[in-house]
Amino acid sequence: MKVGILGCGAIANIITNFASEGKLGVDLKFFYDRDMERAENLASQVDGTVVLNIDDLLDQVDLIIETASPQAVREIVPQILKRGKDVIIMSVGALIDTDLRKKLEKQAEKNNSNIYIPSGAIVGLDGIKAASIGKIHQVSLITRKPPKSLGISAEKETVLYEGKAKDAVLKFPMNINVAATLSIACGTEVDVKIIADPSVDRNSHEVHMMGDFGELKTTTHNMRCSINPKTSVLAAYSAIKLLKSLNENLKIGT
Ligand SMILES: NC(=O)c1ccc[n+]([C@@H]2O[C@H](COP(=O)([O-])OP(=O)(O)OC[C@H]3O[C@@H](n4cnc5c(N)ncnc54)[C@H](O)[C@@H]3O)[C@@H](O)[C@H]2O)c1
Repeated sequence: MKVGILGCGAIANIITNFASEGKLGVDLKFFYDRDMERAENLASQVDGTVVLNIDDLLDQVDLIIETASPQAVREIVPQILKRGKDVIIMSVGALIDTDLRKKLEKQAEKNNSNIYIPSGAIVGLDGIKAASIGKIHQVSLITRKPPKSLGISAEKETVLYEGKAKDAVLKFPMNINVAATLSIACGTEVDVKIIADPSVDRNSHEVHMMGDFGELKTTTHNMRCSINPKTSVLAAYSAIKLLKSLNENLKIGT
């Protein structure tokens, strides 16, 4: 399977490092970024090719890993699906927009392509998906990050947002990926709290869910990417695992 990357920042760097060690299980060779130097840097690690635009990328690959931005999901993912190619979406926050999500799903169905959403920076999505077979009564997410990871400075613990995930999208487009993933996985509105906390050095996510299945709580304390402290290493690992699993015959988890 030939794979290309759209957006050559922190997550793409980790994926490409892994590919350079021959451990990805797919052929990652094509790189596109609006900042050409970033694409060149990654391409050089795997003897790959920098492409100048999305059409050139689509001519070369079967699957694109979107590691760019919500705007790229809105503007470029429709082009990917239209060409019948598969896509892994990391900027999943864009899909909190139900109209966009439904439009992309319809396009994928029509063109026989697949949209993959990795579990990203949280754990427990397998159980959460299974739990949502029954009725879900309540789901909440508390995201706690060092102020720097939220792009602000704060000297004491500060609640930046409390409310529904959907309403946080304009204020925190880069920090609602987990909330969006959770909402899509369980098909329920998620209550979100975003806290800037100068006493922590990891990005943490606490999920609490109650439903017919019972109750679950998960907590993830994530190491941050050195290139982009807003992003957790686990998010990149989840994309790598998803890519590897495309070629595996034994599937585990829901
Ligand atoms: N699903 C999750 O749990 C999760 C976790 C962390 C980050 N993310 C999201 O994944 C995405 C990538 O994260 P990152 O830390 O690697 O970001 P980053 O800022 O380090 O890198 C993004 C790269 O994409 C490029 N880019 C952005 N928009 C583009 C466009 N329209 N066309 C071409 N290139 C474009 C930028 O120039 C940059 O090089 C972000 O949207 C981020 O919010 C998701």
